Amino acid sequence: MARVLVTGGAGFLGAAIVKRLAERGDEVIALDNFQAGDPANLRGLGSNVVLISGDVTDLSGLLNVIRQHDVKRIVHAAAIVSVVSSLSAPSHVTRVNIEGTLNVLEAMRLFNVERAVHISSEETYGAFRYEPADEEHPVAPTAPYGISKVASEQLGRFYRRVYKTDFINARLSWVYGPGFPRQRIPRTLIEAALAGRPLHLPRGGDARIDHTYLDDCVEGILLALDHASHPFDVYNLASGEGRTIAEMVALVKELIPGADLSVGPGPYWYDDRLIAPPKGALDITRARTVLDYQPKYDLRRGLAAYIEWYCRSQP
Ligand SMILES: NC(=O)c1ccc[n+]([C@@H]2O[C@H](COP(=O)([O-])OP(=O)(O)OC[C@H]3O[C@@H](n4cnc5c(N)ncnc54)[C@H](O)[C@@H]3O)[C@@H](O)[C@H]2O)c1
Repeated sequence: MARVLVTGGAGFLGAAIVKRLAERGDEVIALDNFQAGDPANLRGLGSNVVLISGDVTDLSGLLNVIRQHDVKRIVHAAAIVSVVSSLSAPSHVTRVNIEGTLNVLEAMRLFNVERAVHISSEETYGAFRYEPADEEHPVAPTAPYGISKVASEQLGRFYRRVYKTDFINARLSWVYGPGFPRQRIPRTLIEAALAGRPLHLPRGGDARIDHTYLDDCVEGILLALDHASHPFDVYNLASGEGRTIAEMVALVKELIPGADLSVGPGPYWYDDRLIAPPKGALDITRARTVLDYQPKYDLRRGLAAYIEWYCRSQP
């Protein structure tokens, strides 16, 4: 049993991680400022979960939480998420994401926290220069969100070198699954199909992305949190497969018969201002070899599980 702080613990990934940690008997402190997260995501959990309203940009508040609860490990999931948010509010995104991470690192140093797993992103790579992209792929992010993740990772390396802080970066790709909070594929496709609403995306069908099901990400993050000794400070945690948005649309149509969905060709646009750079599969060999990470959901199985969740929770 460990005492684990999950920052952003009321969010999509944070709450799923809190749930898994609590189920296996860890003492969990979920900290969130509810900017996007919802306390309802943690409803019904046992007495080994404490939910705290707090902000990762408030260093003294964070230090108090870590001291009072004698935190041993951290999953750092609090962030302003997505490329699109970072176009609209670049200074807010960089402040929360970079300063928040710096505060986590300071807290680790001051209170000898054993380890943190920071949820980073494949947005660090920018346009893929080769594929599958492994962890040695050059980092060249194209928007403030990815830039904030690279800066966070680098701060972690500084603390590791100078203070021996055990700060591990899990680079996730596009995660999907129950409770996904933003209007993005495949959520938009599934909701339209289940409501019997036509949805015709004008462009983006040729974009290839590594879509990763929530449970696989959570599994990988827990493996990274638990691993005895890390030979690396960064791991890709993804499905290992690059599938086009057109393929995703075809799969949703197959799984929801009668769905009136289509997508035009060409690259994906984050919004009207920014085109997504070419991407594809992430190389997950390192996580497979070192962490014994074995993703269980290919895109078809993940979409089927996500649709089943919709049918169960919103009949
Ligand atoms: N979902 C994805 O596809 C994906 C992919 C790669 C990386 N990530 C990373 O995973 C992490 C979790 O993302 P998510 O998809 O669960 O998004 P999310 O928005 O559901 O989770 C982020 C959580 O952080 C909280 N938060 C924001 N600012 C905060 C602050 N100042 N102090 C405390 N809490 C704060 C939000 O309220 C929210 O609950 C983020 O670091 C994100 O960058 C997500």
